[in-house]
Amino acid sequence: MSQSRVGLEAIAFDVPSYSLDLAELAQARGIDPLKYTRGLGQLEMAVPAAEEDSVVLAVGAGKRLLKQFNADASSIGLLIVGTETSVDQSKPVSSYVHQLLGLSPECRVYETKHACYGAMAGVQTATDWVLSGRAHGKKALVIASDIARYGIATPGEPTQGAGAVALLISSEPTLVEFETERQGYYAEQVMDFWRPNYSKEAFADGHFSIQCYLKALARSFEMFVGDRSRFMPTLDSISACLYHAPFPKMMQKAHLSLLSCARGTELEQGSPAYEQGVADFQRRVAPFLELNSRVGNIYTASLFLALFDLLEKSTSAQEGSRISLFSYGSGCTAEFMTARVLSGAGERVRTGFSSKTLLEARTRIGVQEYEELFNASGRMDRDGSFNPDRKVPEAVTRQRDVAFLGVKDHQRQYLTYSSPQAY
Ligand code: CAA
Repeated sequence: MSQSRVGLEAIAFDVPSYSLDLAELAQARGIDPLKYTRGLGQLEMAVPAAEEDSVVLAVGAGKRLLKQFNADASSIGLLIVGTETSVDQSKPVSSYVHQLLGLSPECRVYETKHACYGAMAGVQTATDWVLSGRAHGKKALVIASDIARYGIATPGEPTQGAGAVALLISSEPTLVEFETERQGYYAEQVMDFWRPNYSKEAFADGHFSIQCYLKALARSFEMFVGDRSRFMPTLDSISACLYHAPFPKMMQKAHLSLLSCARGTELEQGSPAYEQGVADFQRRVAPFLELNSRVGNIYTASLFLALFDLLEKSTSAQEGSRISLFSYGSGCTAEFMTARVLSGAGERVRTGFSSKTLLEARTRIGVQEYEELFNASGRMDRDGSFNPDRKVPEAVTRQRDVAFLGVKDHQRQYLTYSSPQAY
């Protein structure tokens, strides 16, 4: 029997064990720190240990979700991991995650990729699966997991980051209900950002990528608005606007661009309308960028980290209100959708979990250590990197109970251990 409701029942995230202050990075690169902290809006970035790959981060987010929402692992009939930090050309990240989370064998399991859109593709598939009635009461676990790497001293370096966000989607949402009457999506082949199979680091035509993002936002929104004779939520009815967040300042560009689209005229810099737009950004977007500004770009997970931030901060005053979500995947494809925050969502997310505690638990490192870790992570994917005597740093074992130990006989090796402080 087809279902009429679909949305989020649970959400949790994981971040790497180390962080770097971006003002320190700027100083080391001979750049004015204000360029990073104000110009890009980025305060810190997450730095993964060599033992933290996209599998480990996805498992960390999934375990936290199962534990904190007391979710039944046997009820999960679909596991999708959205990532552009794949560990294999064939074997998906999701196979390792399925095993390490102890999910049922009666589960569809696969990985989705389209740059930062990968997890949104998973969310849309899970939504359709639930609505079709073919889930038969089972739930979908969609995990967005990524490690953003551009390289030392590149323009993209201050926009690196890493982490994972897990989302439990079902016909009995308790946090957010998706509005499925309308969607807006867009695609065009462009070379704005890519990561070839031979490179762990991404290549980006940075300023062009910003233009591609804004064009895709405008075109997705136009399709979303489409035929106004049907149900159409106006921008005024939206209490918070969430966007894919490569760096927080991009959200201001995106929001002003969306307001221009809705008005049908450009907001001219310095005009009263432009200043109103900036104030609107401060009200409807900026409050939910705190986590992103301390974690950095997590590619496909960054939109959902902003969603976590919003839910964790939500009070009864915001509950019942409409929010919008915009996903952009370079290359490119994009999607604009709306959802409603459900009553009691903030309380449920805050129970037993605090993003602040998780972020504060990270070990702060300096630029030299970050560079060493960056190079060490690069070497871990090579065959022969496995060392059975490898001592996993305490900073990592504190965070979660799984670590990547390297590659042996062309097979990835993961270690699980008991970690009293994790989750
Ligand atoms: N004080 C305050 N602000 C300063 C400053 C200072 N001293 N110096 C510079 N700035 C401001 C600039 O004015 C600029 O702001 P505006 O864009 O609002 O004018 C901002 O800081 C950045 O300066 P530049 O544009 O000169 O920076 P850059 O050329 O070195 O690189 C970047 C910026 C292109 C975003 C680069 O970091 C990059 O290539 N990043 C990776 C690509 C990316 O993130 N693209 C985003 C869209 S694509 C996408 O979203 C998918 C994805 O996840 C990758």
